[in-house]
Amino acid sequence: MSPKWLGKCPDCGEWNTFVQEIKVPTKVHLQKRSKPQALKEIALSKETRLKTGIGELDRVLGGGIVEGSVVLIGGEPGIGKSTLILQLSNKLAKRNKKVLYVSGEESPAQIKIRAERLNISEDLLILPETNIEQIQETIVDVQPDTVVVDSIQTIYDPNLATIPGSVSQVRECGLTLMQIAKEKNIIMLMIGHVTKGGVIAGPKTLEHMVDTVLYLEGDKNYYYRILRAAKNRFGSTNEIGVFEMGEKGLSEVEDPSLFFLEQRREDSSGTVVSCTLEGTRPFLVEIQALLSPCAYGVPQRVSAGIDYRRLAMLLAVIERKLGFKVSTRDVFLNIVGGLKIEERACDLAIVAAIVSGLKDVPINKDVVVLGEVGLTGEIRLMQQLQRRMNEAERLGFRKCIIPRQARIKKVGKLELIEVGTVNEAIYKLLK
Ligand code: TYD
Ligand code: MG
Repeated sequence: MSPKWLGKCPDCGEWNTFVQEIKVPTKVHLQKRSKPQALKEIALSKETRLKTGIGELDRVLGGGIVEGSVVLIGGEPGIGKSTLILQLSNKLAKRNKKVLYVSGEESPAQIKIRAERLNISEDLLILPETNIEQIQETIVDVQPDTVVVDSIQTIYDPNLATIPGSVSQVRECGLTLMQIAKEKNIIMLMIGHVTKGGVIAGPKTLEHMVDTVLYLEGDKNYYYRILRAAKNRFGSTNEIGVFEMGEKGLSEVEDPSLFFLEQRREDSSGTVVSCTLEGTRPFLVEIQALLSPCAYGVPQRVSAGIDYRRLAMLLAVIERKLGFKVSTRDVFLNIVGGLKIEERACDLAIVAAIVSGLKDVPINKDVVVLGEVGLTGEIRLMQQLQRRMNEAERLGFRKCIIPRQARIKKVGKLELIEVGTVNEAIYKLLK
């Protein structure tokens, strides 16, 4: 918070993240006074989990949704949040749960059309309402087991002077909904629009209050969507779920590696397969590089899916340690499928893709390349190498380039090729 507008946040260093907020007195949320208890006297009640029947979602939730928990589902507008939650509501309704779907964005008719497309026939209760007091009353009347609020930005409290979607409205309405959920042991699913830059600040303020925060991510140019837990009081935040958006809504992708390698052209230069770990799940990914002579003064470095600075560092290693001149080339790097790689296990594969693209020499289609690259050109070990090699073997790859440090000779049918430096790796890959 700051009394004046700032371009750059002094805390996190992000630009344009400040939003104006008019100070309004916050409501007093009356609660029963609780007494302190000795730790040893606190009785543990095991939370009841409900399997949703959507495997990828259950995985992210930590084995199902906990009764009475409050879940915030964030994501960019149009990414598929309403679709996912409508499908989830349908599953819950099939388990004889009474679901109240509060819609502030779409009319009941619009929801009906969508539900028909998704083959949802169960009795969901649809409530087109944005006034929090009315919603509260309806919840008391209807007594649902699950309440969906789509979206939290459209809900307003008439006692506040600010507009719906403002930080204070989102916070107050979110708090009210949370209290109802805890009081009545209702599963509360709140949808919030959040853009990549975090520009829509409202739902972010709810993150610390709710039990679970899920983010649905993806590139609108592609069909796949990744569901991540950013916070989970009832499970780990390591798991991700992979979905595909189709005619009939979101369907689960149970074999992401197969999915992401589907359209690979195996005879082309500038493409290499590596393995990234998303939570505890290994994914094989295709890395593509295209290099062309620099047309204008400053060479371009365009990277989709890896950090720009990491690419710059790897290019410097290629130039200084391998002696290939890339500083006069435009470099385009792409992780196929729109995936984002945040770890370093794919470094060596990126280097290999760039060199293969530069020399126009294809790399053997049966190889998976694993290794982190250091500044002196050394190849380092990454975590969970075994998992990644198993995945490569499962998908029918025959060879795997791995860091020498690993000291592993064989994994199933996979031939392992140990390398200690980028020089050695490139020599073995391109010979
Ligand atoms: P939606 O769930 O409305 O997104 P959000 O609630 O996150 O804003 O999904 C919007 C997009 O998904 C829309 O552009 C159409 C597409 N879509 C499909 O491709 N297939 C479907 O079955 C459905 C329901 C939507
Ligand atoms: Mg929506």
